Amino acid sequence: MPKAVVQGIGHAVPEKVLTNANLEELVETNDEWITQRTGIKERRICGPDDSCTSLSVAAARRALTNAGIAPEELDMITVGTVTGDFPFPSASCLVQEQLGAVNAGAFDVGAACAGFIYSMASVAPMLETGKIKTALVVGVDVLSRYVDYTDRSTCVLFGDGAGAVVLRAEEGTDRGVMDTVLLSDGTGAKHIGLDVGGTKNPPNRGIPEGMSPYLYMAGAEVYRFAVGAMGDACERVLERTGLAATDIDLFVPHQANLRIIESAAKRLELPNEKVFVNVQKYGNTSGGSIPIALSEAVEQGRLKKGDLVMTVGFGAGLVWGANLIRW
Ligand code: ACO
Repeated sequence: MPKAVVQGIGHAVPEKVLTNANLEELVETNDEWITQRTGIKERRICGPDDSCTSLSVAAARRALTNAGIAPEELDMITVGTVTGDFPFPSASCLVQEQLGAVNAGAFDVGAACAGFIYSMASVAPMLETGKIKTALVVGVDVLSRYVDYTDRSTCVLFGDGAGAVVLRAEEGTDRGVMDTVLLSDGTGAKHIGLDVGGTKNPPNRGIPEGMSPYLYMAGAEVYRFAVGAMGDACERVLERTGLAATDIDLFVPHQANLRIIESAAKRLELPNEKVFVNVQKYGNTSGGSIPIALSEAVEQGRLKKGDLVMTVGFGAGLVWGANLIRW
């Protein structure tokens, strides 16, 4: 059976940097509090001309160049996002058009901060079963458009960004997506979300009383869930593959909060050098977080062909999951 092998990777973040010092001017907060509670020092924020599509296309072009693959060779484009330019058409169709990927199908996957994990899991079986040969998987979010920059409990956490990988079906290799677990718990839907803009409260009816046009988050509940979910997904995927945490060469978790990352690494007993962290530079870029981290890990020479990489994410839904990949 062919494997879904990563051929190329790239990422794109907006130019505008929002530092902790900048946030001190907007809300009652300080660098020490943000650093201690989250590990975040700065994040990137889209300017008026940037969007989910422009970031996705920039990341995708880099991934295609890195893979040495032309847009016309793509059979499928999947974008993991909850912040597409519009409710419809899909983000993936806008990316398809701008890339000139004239032979590709296109669909979005809505799994918030686990969007990249879920997208990889949706596309890999198409390659493994021979339905398609080449696919582009993008993880991206532009949560700054839904953040209330007068709410200190959320505005310090989020940033914008996109990462993309090109997958190719390959025979006779042990590289590729090895296994995946995907999990969900809708009883936690109330802990993080956006009330308006969907069909329950459509934008043409204005903002119903008591609701907000900004994202809301019960930080402590999400924190408790995240700490358990990261370890849970990793342990399940290791058990399914018969591998041990000691086999992992690099751990690339969703970059939401340094403390959550550290507690997951501790549960897996992974040494610091096997844990990739860039949350200090970008904050939580939701669907963009894992592919941006993978792309930087490759650039820095910390992730090489043949390495075993564990990616794991969690997010609004609630959802969580892990992909184990032989890079
Ligand atoms: N600056 C200063 N003080 C602050 C700030 C701030 N930016 N934000 C909150 N505080 C205050 C609170 O008001 C509170 O004060 P009080 O005790 O007087 O009421 C105090 O700091 C402690 O607040 P806590 O909420 O208890 O702080 P905690 O240690 O839990 O950290 C945090 C908060 C960082 C939000 C943490 O709960 C967290 O990381 N949660 C998970 C968030 C997450 O991962 N979200 C991503 C979801 S993925 C997706 O789908 C998008």
